[in-house]
Amino acid sequence: MPYAAITGWGAAMPPAILSNADLSTFLDTSDEWIATRTGMRERRISHVSGTELAILASRRALACAGLDPADVELIVFGSCSNDEQVPNTASGVQFALGAKRAGAMDVNTACTSFLYGLSTANAMIRTGVVRNAVVIGVEIIAQYIDWDNRNVAVLFGDGCGAVVVQASDREEGVLADQLGCIADARQTLRIRGMGAAYVNQDVTIGNTLIDFDGQEVFKRAVHGMAQASAAAMAKCGVTVEDIDLVVPHQANLRIIEAVAARAGIPMEKVMLTVERYANMSSATVPVALAAALDEGRVKPGSLILMPAFGAGLTYCAHVVRWGERVTPISVCPDELPPPQKTALEMVNAIRARKTANAARSEAALSQAQFADAVKTSPH
Ligand code: UT7
Repeated sequence: MPYAAITGWGAAMPPAILSNADLSTFLDTSDEWIATRTGMRERRISHVSGTELAILASRRALACAGLDPADVELIVFGSCSNDEQVPNTASGVQFALGAKRAGAMDVNTACTSFLYGLSTANAMIRTGVVRNAVVIGVEIIAQYIDWDNRNVAVLFGDGCGAVVVQASDREEGVLADQLGCIADARQTLRIRGMGAAYVNQDVTIGNTLIDFDGQEVFKRAVHGMAQASAAAMAKCGVTVEDIDLVVPHQANLRIIEAVAARAGIPMEKVMLTVERYANMSSATVPVALAAALDEGRVKPGSLILMPAFGAGLTYCAHVVRWGERVTPISVCPDELPPPQKTALEMVNAIRARKTANAARSEAALSQAQFADAVKTSPH
């Protein structure tokens, strides 16, 4: 049975930066609170769609792997902020890449979507269904986050990362993965307004609402990531001493520190991007992995642990053996078009649209009816 080596990597980060000081211009918050409680200083706001970010990150990953798009056999689009539900988003990436032979699927497990997608690709390659795959983690959160709720607005950012996975005879790639879900806590993180339960109601509800119990998610996340890390390491017979680098989901520096402390891993071995990119949901792990490679933190043969959690509450951990090559075979020269607005201008435009939508909905419904209308999901 072949292994599934990670042979290409790439990120596509929107250039517009939203700082903690920018957030303080419209929220009752401060750089001091955000940095102390989360480790975040900046996040990116995208001026292009998630599909466009995914196409660029995939092109970069394919160039890095030296793989022709025409030879790609599977595209896995990991995201919970897909531009559309039907058609699926992976098909848009397939079309743009010219990867005509590739199967194309979307995977949504919220922040763990990239790693669940990596498990999917790994299993398909190891069992011979396909010989290679592009796995993407991408999120456009700015469009649906409630920017006027300081409990959530300060936490998230947009971004995208992708990897190429290819069949290999050497023992490399995912050595073990552990997936799980704490479903009794699924109410702790929910976005109302996205999905079939909400569309085509008798009135137009233009806005999303977020249910979020940050402290409960925090506790469950630490438990789930630590437990999955221990299980994944046990499955492939390695210990924390064998781990060279941890590339975790970047939801909060304090969560990462707690997971590392429980596992007994020193923070020097942990790759951090939370300060510069905040929480990009499914994009955090592939972007942090690409950054670790760019910064020379991945060595030939490195053993990498990747723990994550997300809404659901899904959680997982992957143990990955890196191959011999830690530099790209070639580099894709493409860039995103420059943004026409600053990040703060884009966010204020989203806020203005949401306010206008809310006014329209409230004109049609009482406040209580409005809340009921967006709480139609029984589960
Ligand atoms: O990837 C999946 C999604 N990510 C997560 O689910 C994140 C998990 N949770 C967390 O990271 C943390 O729980 C948070 C960062 C969300 C919150 O940190 P915390 O240390 O648990 O703070 P807290 O919720 O206990 O709030 C402490 C205080 C509260 O004020 P009072 O009640 O003590 O007066 C909040 O109202 O901080 C207040 N607060 C803020 N103050 C300034 C909450 N958000 C802010 C803010 N700026 N942005």
